[in-house]
Amino acid sequence: MPDRILITTDDLEHAVRINAGVEAAGFHTTLAHTLDEARQALRRDPPPDCVVVTGGLHESGAAQLLTLARDRSVSTLGLVEETEPDAKGLARRLGLTGYLEKPADPAEVAATVRRLIERRKLQQRTGIIGESPAIQEVLVKIEQMAPVSSTVLIEGESGTGKELVARAIHDLSPRRAKPFIAVNCAAIPDTLLESELFGHEKGAFTGAAERRLGRFELADGGTIFLDEVGEMAPATQVKVLRVLEDRTFFRVGGTQAIKVDVRVVAATNKSLKEEVALGRFRDDLFYRLNVLYIYLPPLRERKTDIPLLVRRFTPEFAREHSRPGHLFKGITPEALQILVDAEWPGNIR
Ligand SMILES: Nc1ncnc2c1ncn2[C@@H]1O[C@H](COP(=O)(O)OP(=O)(O)OP(=O)(O)O)[C@@H](O)[C@H]1O
Ligand SMILES: [Mg+2]
Repeated sequence: MPDRILITTDDLEHAVRINAGVEAAGFHTTLAHTLDEARQALRRDPPPDCVVVTGGLHESGAAQLLTLARDRSVSTLGLVEETEPDAKGLARRLGLTGYLEKPADPAEVAATVRRLIERRKLQQRTGIIGESPAIQEVLVKIEQMAPVSSTVLIEGESGTGKELVARAIHDLSPRRAKPFIAVNCAAIPDTLLESELFGHEKGAFTGAAERRLGRFELADGGTIFLDEVGEMAPATQVKVLRVLEDRTFFRVGGTQAIKVDVRVVAATNKSLKEEVALGRFRDDLFYRLNVLYIYLPPLRERKTDIPLLVRRFTPEFAREHSRPGHLFKGITPEALQILVDAEWPGNIR
């Protein structure tokens, strides 16, 4: 079924031209002649895949419509007047998923609509929820970074979705059929981390009764996720640096160099740059990890995402916690406001 596009007629001339262009690009289009018609279309099941708001972006009707679209997980493209002094700021305030300046070329509108819809599908595949510009930027980066094998450093407070993003990068990469191996560097004692990462030979140390493969070897062809990399002891940092330089290492107690094809994705809830400045993290390793970079902002800085997350998680929590016979009917606007106003120090944890 072709993707369905709703086009508002605030700017009738643009609406008509865009309708023709978007239809020619293979979409199914509907023109909404009034605000009410647009609202009804958005409330329908399933709602359209994208709504193009052709004008009136400063009016309250547009703001309402865009809120409704966001609540229904519908992508939004706004056409901004040429005279608008701050198009980007306006798009941000309205929570538009995308915007174009007028006069808008119908072919460009169609291409943008396609990109927005694809990003939405990407969110469905990866489970990454969020309409905030910050999350949309992260999604664009994931799309760009997934196909290459360069090392990625992900920074963000605890619970901001670093592991979710690391998995998405792997799942969208050509390595997806190979393993994704996560190592929590903070959870493994320093003395064991080296053998966890690189494996060991039989008899390498007391208790090494058999040869054991390390995580780098297990991840061959795939991705290794070095979580909490900032917690890694200096001695281990040197060894990881060597792997990043030439993709070879020795098992603990081994004499044969082992070569692997592994993509490295690292995450930290500290600022690794600060750790370098404080002398706790090797600067050469920092540069090797920080080839591609993703920052995940805390939830309190992207409050527009909170209602979407609430809507995603409340039915699940209700199922887990409710007594039989007590039906969860939803969340009141007042309760939702309390959640939006909260600080969320643990983010989405
Ligand atoms: N944008 C998001 N959309 C949906 N779920 C999310 C999002 N971000 C995080 N989550 C969920 O929140 C939880 C925490 O995410 P994740 O483990 O990826 O965070 P983290 O940054 O690795 O945290 P920590 O530093 O505590 O390990 C997971 O259950 C994850 O699925
Ligand atoms: Mg994590």
